[in-house]
Amino acid sequence: MYHLQGPQVLQMLKKSLRKSLPESLKVYTTVFHMNQGNPFKLKAVVDKWPDFTTVVIRPQKQEMTDDFDHYTNTYQIYYKNPTNCQEFLGASDVINWKQHLQIQSSQLSLNEVIQNLAATKSFQVKQTHCILYMMAETMKKLIPSLLEGKNVSPNSGKPKAICQEMFKPSSLDVTHAALVNKFWHFGGNERSQRFIERCIQNFPTFCLLGPEGTPVSWNLMDQTGELRMAGTLPEYRAHGLITQVIYSHSHYLNKLGFPIYSHVDKSNKTMQKVSKKLDHITIPCGWNQWHCVPL
Ligand SMILES: CC(C)(COP(=O)(O)OP(=O)(O)OC[C@H]1O[C@@H](n2cnc3c(N)ncnc32)[C@H](O)[C@@H]1OP(=O)(O)O)[C@@H](O)C(=O)NCCC(=O)NCCS
Repeated sequence: MYHLQGPQVLQMLKKSLRKSLPESLKVYTTVFHMNQGNPFKLKAVVDKWPDFTTVVIRPQKQEMTDDFDHYTNTYQIYYKNPTNCQEFLGASDVINWKQHLQIQSSQLSLNEVIQNLAATKSFQVKQTHCILYMMAETMKKLIPSLLEGKNVSPNSGKPKAICQEMFKPSSLDVTHAALVNKFWHFGGNERSQRFIERCIQNFPTFCLLGPEGTPVSWNLMDQTGELRMAGTLPEYRAHGLITQVIYSHSHYLNKLGFPIYSHVDKSNKTMQKVSKKLDHITIPCGWNQWHCVPL
C-alpha cells in the first residue's frame, strides 16, 4: 500500500486517471480538488506505484472518529483489475469495514467486488445507482468523444429570466445547513448536517434569496467536487429557480476550471428535466454509491 502525498505525485495520479475517464470520474474529480488545496484533507492510497491497479481516496484516520458517521467515512474507488482490487480492499487496512461507511465510484462493476467483500468482512450493503450528468463544457474538455453526434452550442442551456426584484443571487453560510439538510434526500440527521456545514465552509455555494432575505433555492458541492443537495422551498417551486441557480453556479465553477457534474435519482423527473434544459449530458456508467453497515 502506498500513500501518495505532495502536489507532484498527485498531479501524476490525476494525469493518469484522466486517461480512464469516464470510469475514473469520481476519483479524478476528488484528486482534482486535492490538488487545489485539499479542503477535506483527503488521502490517496494505491496498491502499487506508479503502475497502480486500484486507487482509494479516503479521509485521514483522525477524521474518522465516529463509527456511525458514513458521511465522513466515505471512500472513492477506481480500479483496473477486479481481482487485485478485491485483494487490496480485503487484505489491507485501507478500509475500516467495522465502521458505517460509503463507497462511491463511477464503475458500476465495483458492485461485484463489494458484494464479495460483504460476505467475507460481514457487512450489509445498500447500493444506489443514479443518472450521472456532466456539463457540456466539462465534457468537451475531458471526454470529447462522448459529445460526438450531440448538438450543443456555446449559449445553449440558458434558462429563462427570473424576477430580479424578488430574487437576489447570493451564497450560503453555515447557518443555512439546517435548511439544506431538511430537503436533502440522503440527509435529515445531525451527522448529515455537520457534513453539509463542512461543504458550505469549504466549497463555493450558490443560492437565491427570496423577499424575506433568506435562501429559497440553493446548490452546493461535496468533497468530490460534485454539484449536490440542490433544493427549492416548496412554496417557490416551478418558477424556474433551481434551473437558474444551477446554471449560475455551474458557469461560475466552470470559469474557475472545475469539472462540473451531478447525479439525479431515476425517479426525480423534475431534476432530469432541469439537467436536460441546462444541456448537461448523461454519462453511460452512471453514479454509484454503496452504504455499508457492519453486521
Ligand atoms: C427538484 C427541485 C429542486 C426543483 O426545484 P424548482 O425550483 O421547482 O425547479 P424549476 O422551477 O427550475 O423547475 C424546472 C422545471 O421542472 C418543472 N417542475 C418543477 N416542479 C415540478 C413538479 N413538481 N412537477 C412537474 N414539473 C415540475 C418546472 O415547471 C420547470 O419546467 P418548465 O421550465 O418547463 O416550466 C425541488 O422540487 C426540490 O427541492 N425537491 C426536493 C429536493 C430534490 O429533489 N432536490 C434535487 C436533488 S438532485
